[in-house]
Amino acid sequence: MELAAARTIERAAELQERGNVASYIPELAKVDPQKAGIAITLANGATISAGDCDEQSTIQSVSKVFTLALALGTVGDRLWNRVGREPSGSAFDSILQLEHENGIPRNPFVNAGALVVTDSILSNYQPKEALAEILSFVRALADDETIHIDKAVAQSETETGHRNRALAHYLASYGNFNNQVDHTLGVYFHQCALSMSCVQLSRAGRFLAFGGAIGAGEARIVSHRRAKRIAAIMITCGHYDGSGDFAYRVGVPAKSGVSGMILAVVPNVASIAVWSPGLNKNGNSLIGTQMLEQVIRELDWSIF
Ligand code: DON
Repeated sequence: MELAAARTIERAAELQERGNVASYIPELAKVDPQKAGIAITLANGATISAGDCDEQSTIQSVSKVFTLALALGTVGDRLWNRVGREPSGSAFDSILQLEHENGIPRNPFVNAGALVVTDSILSNYQPKEALAEILSFVRALADDETIHIDKAVAQSETETGHRNRALAHYLASYGNFNNQVDHTLGVYFHQCALSMSCVQLSRAGRFLAFGGAIGAGEARIVSHRRAKRIAAIMITCGHYDGSGDFAYRVGVPAKSGVSGMILAVVPNVASIAVWSPGLNKNGNSLIGTQMLEQVIRELDWSIF
């Protein structure tokens, strides 16, 4: 497996087409598209990693799996009155479907749906407390107290996040927002700016790979059923309008972020994080997808 990880990084370095780094969040535009890292954490707790696997990046939309798990733990299935569970077939920041569907976002991973999820967590807290809750949840999942929020990236998105502001106000106009729009947006921008390396992210994702527990023989952090259901939404919606292509090429549940991070889970086998900042046309990591496609094929880990 060490060889498979190392080979994946070697091949990634040879690829000429790197994709485009996200520039609508100015801080993300500064990152070098040549970066590529991978980390694979197994049920026995061992982590195999290669490339820029210890370098920090914000996780952006990958944070949506953690907030979904937290929100389901807080409000349970009532969350599904406010957000659907169907693939959107549209861009992550699209506003189009919201009017047709009366302010109910298609799923918790498009930005509109993730804003509703964060809004439901915030209903029990002040914004700073909600953020502390999200941070301590992720730290507990990864068993790593050093995980932090990149304030510069959060600030950068706070200054330029006009689409998210529009989505949030639109949701509020349909009555699908319980808190002050600026409070929910503030928590959302900061959760997206959670800063992690591939090694840390692969460890934080273990609960999704191992039925709600962080490893074989460990206590469950979420129920088995909930972990499986979150993974089901990852495979159908985790790559937005690129979800079908990702399932076809890679074949495991995964969630991407515009920083070029992807968290993938191989049920009962491994939690994998890859990072490469250049994006494809759907806003998912171009090289990261290729790395996952290669390593999962080599290890024969597709769920299909
Ligand atoms: O809300 C945004 O636009 C970003 N903070 C996160 C979007 C994202 O990561 C989409 N994923 N590919």
